[in-house]
Amino acid sequence: MTTIDAPAPDRLPTDVPTRLFIGGRWIAGSDGATMPVEDPATGQVLCHVADASPADGVAALDAARAAGPAWAAAPARERSRVLRRAHDLVVSRTEELALVMTREMGKPLAEARGEVAYAAGFLEWFAEEAVRIGGEYGRTPNGAARTVVTRRPVGTCLLVTPWNFPLAMAARKIAPALAAGCTVVLKPAPQTPLSSLLLAEILAEAGLPAGAVNVVPTSRAGEVVAPLLRSGHVRKLSFTGSTAVGRLLLAQASDAVVRTSMELGGNAPFLVFDDADLDVAVDGAVQAKMRNMGEACVAANRFFVHRSVATEFAERLGARMGSLVVGPGTSPTTQVGPLIDAGSRAKVAGLVDDAVARGAEVVCGAAIPSGSGYFYPPTVLAGVAPDSALVSEEIFGPVAAIQVFDTDDDVVALANATVWGLAGYVFTRDLDRALSVAEALDVGMVGLNGGAVSNPAAPFGGVKQSGFGREGGRQGIEEYLDVKMIMIPVRDRDRR
Ligand code: SIN
Repeated sequence: MTTIDAPAPDRLPTDVPTRLFIGGRWIAGSDGATMPVEDPATGQVLCHVADASPADGVAALDAARAAGPAWAAAPARERSRVLRRAHDLVVSRTEELALVMTREMGKPLAEARGEVAYAAGFLEWFAEEAVRIGGEYGRTPNGAARTVVTRRPVGTCLLVTPWNFPLAMAARKIAPALAAGCTVVLKPAPQTPLSSLLLAEILAEAGLPAGAVNVVPTSRAGEVVAPLLRSGHVRKLSFTGSTAVGRLLLAQASDAVVRTSMELGGNAPFLVFDDADLDVAVDGAVQAKMRNMGEACVAANRFFVHRSVATEFAERLGARMGSLVVGPGTSPTTQVGPLIDAGSRAKVAGLVDDAVARGAEVVCGAAIPSGSGYFYPPTVLAGVAPDSALVSEEIFGPVAAIQVFDTDDDVVALANATVWGLAGYVFTRDLDRALSVAEALDVGMVGLNGGAVSNPAAPFGGVKQSGFGREGGRQGIEEYLDVKMIMIPVRDRDRR
């Protein structure tokens, strides 16, 4: 059995903010409560942060509402410059942000640096989009009226972000909201509040007015969020997280008819056809599976490999995944960090055990190492039975589960046989097949001969129970804009 030694520094690298950020001030929670932040590589408490109460949530919303009119009225160029300065500051503080993220979330430092660049990319992209909010001018078909279509900020936003990409998901929501002229309350995941608090500090340093962004980490999400959604003062909810929590929030948002964007769970199919370049497919598989230890909603969850190449693909993927170095994210040699907590690791282990009990062959991994921290080894399973739980559930861990297929029609049907529809991956050298399969997959994003679909300039989002709305790309800012139409009758003498 492998043992992971996870000696970790006992201090955080910097003066990380640990209080709530409301109205431009760092404050303790109104009832004085705090909550621990754990290092998943050791299971030890890193620090305590203020734990927002429902009253703090209301104070944050009040601050965002108070700041709203002035921010909405600020020239787009001014909003753009704040975001651009925030981008520059994030980039200049890459090492510190990456280290904090690694300590609170577990991902290896190299990946954390990548996430800092990804987060900065959203600030940069939406700094550019802020000055391109367009409108239309036209005539009705009967010539009787002119129409002016304009866009305005939707209003105060509530943003709820997950622990797996704690900086990038906050930036992906905050940047378009601010670019559009909205002010926000951000509730980060309780496991990873530090990255969001640092982002708030950076935005303030970049010149963002007090109250435009407020951050309320809390262990009492239900008590804090539900009253805000029902208050009638939140005009937009953007959520990234599980489908189960998304459903709950949608129900709460329906009372006050709050506009919503939902980026929920996935169950991504990864298709390898008989004509695929296997070098490319294995590279893509490692990327689509192992980014963030598999803790990504776009992670490849179900591998479907054509029968004629299935054995070779499984062996090659097993060799690659089995050689990855598992350890604490702070170690420079680590390629695979711990999972977020004990519950997540137990869930992954349970899914693997279930698949093995149903006949799957373990190509590599599957044995929990001894030692502290929530490590799980990169695991490849071949010959997975279709009724295994990990075929219908999101694994959220470093486990590649391979099934075989025979025909294109079969594999498209298998890939679409899920309630989710976030991402899918297709590997083939045949252009016709590539396009027809990419079109046939019921997903919001397809990686074609590549294992990545995420980029600030590309619309990210899903269909079916993976949610709706898009983040990033040209579409991202629209989620924070309402369309307003002005109709002007055409006087007789102007009719053409
Ligand atoms: C997620 O897994 O929640 C987002 C992943 C990404 O942006 O690539």
